[in-house]
Amino acid sequence: MFTVTLQSTGRRFDVAAGETVLEAAQRAGIALPYSCRAGVCGSCKATLLAGRCGYPRNPPLALDADERAHHAVLLCQAVPASDLLLEAREVASVEDIARRQLGVRVTGKHLLAPDVTGLHLRPVDGEPRLQWLPGQYLDVLLDEDRRRPFSIANGPQPDGTIELHVRHVAGGGFTSRVADELAVGDTLRIEGPLGTFVAREDSERPMIFVAGGTGIAPVKAIVEHFLALGTRRAMDVYWGVRHAEDLYLRTQIEGWQRQARQLRFHAVLSDMAPLAAAPLRTGLVHEAVLSDHPDLSGHDIYMSGPPAMIDIARHRFVAAGLPEDRLYYDSFDYAPDVLAQIIASRAGFHA
Ligand SMILES: Cc1cc2nc3c(=O)[nH]c(=O)nc-3n(C[C@H](O)[C@H](O)[C@H](O)COP(=O)(O)OP(=O)(O)OC[C@H]3O[C@@H](n4cnc5c(N)ncnc54)[C@H](O)[C@@H]3O)c2cc1C
Ligand code: FES
Repeated sequence: MFTVTLQSTGRRFDVAAGETVLEAAQRAGIALPYSCRAGVCGSCKATLLAGRCGYPRNPPLALDADERAHHAVLLCQAVPASDLLLEAREVASVEDIARRQLGVRVTGKHLLAPDVTGLHLRPVDGEPRLQWLPGQYLDVLLDEDRRRPFSIANGPQPDGTIELHVRHVAGGGFTSRVADELAVGDTLRIEGPLGTFVAREDSERPMIFVAGGTGIAPVKAIVEHFLALGTRRAMDVYWGVRHAEDLYLRTQIEGWQRQARQLRFHAVLSDMAPLAAAPLRTGLVHEAVLSDHPDLSGHDIYMSGPPAMIDIARHRFVAAGLPEDRLYYDSFDYAPDVLAQIIASRAGFHA
């Protein structure tokens, strides 16, 4: 058993043999940032100030050579080999809500875009409502201990309704089931709330939100939260999709603009095909952000979406002056069990 000390707050917790730092922190009720839980997204990055750790599960793929040379570690995979002193961000706001498992019933199912299904879920009779902070996600629990993460697209509702936006992944077991078979009245088992992609209210800086595809789901929940608070901070919402028909929340977001004059919406289409209707901006969504805001040193950025978008955007935004600790993101990677299999099957890597 080793002890981890967090430099900034002095908080300490024990790590059992074979446990990762993130698992031990969660067991101790300490919230450290994370998203993919598989070593690929980098959101759990911290700095090792003293001690040694190893990576017996997945290799730390999200760290480049420079980051490793500067003692960066990934808390979701790092297993201590001694006591550790760490410089890590804590997300205290999510510590108050304990995660739990519950049964939910599908109360609504509709096609939002050609490959995106909207689901409404409500606790089955007798189950208390799930509590969460806008922006968090849940795991859908499947057989054989498998779980599939999905962001919650709304904030807590009086009737307990949970809204999900599920993109159909080609060859994906659960998302194919959602698209083809799942029906209103069916039940699912879920666990939540999870994740640390939540509103940071202790800032007056302008905010930029960057969503790719269904990455708009948690962004919607966080923006609606700030609107409900009556924030006066500037908000730029960038939503990158392939085609105009994928902008399934466009009317709703234009409604936000009417509600809050400091909110600007920028739709960005990655498919360059000429548009018959009113022209929209084209290109990659992070490039649109950088073209409008070449200096990001005075902003807070929230982003979620496909791993490739997150990976390139986080490097480019930091290069444009954004301090890393003001970049909050969820990377929509596949589930940890699937990523572990994919990583293990690659030559040179063994879990
Ligand atoms: C924090 C978080 C939040 C997310 N939120 C959302 C959201 O709001 N909306 C959303 O649409 N998505 C979201 N995602 C992504 C979503 O979780 C995945 O798309 C989903 O888990 C896919 O599940 P599946 O069972 O359909 O596919 P899986 O069965 O997991 O398969 C995924 C892909 O991997 C391939 N594959 C499976 N096993 C192997 C293997 N052994 N070797 C090689 N390839 C393999 C499959 O063929 C398929 O192409 C989120 C992800 C994270 C981490
Ligand atoms: S790399 Fe650790 S949570 Fe993604």
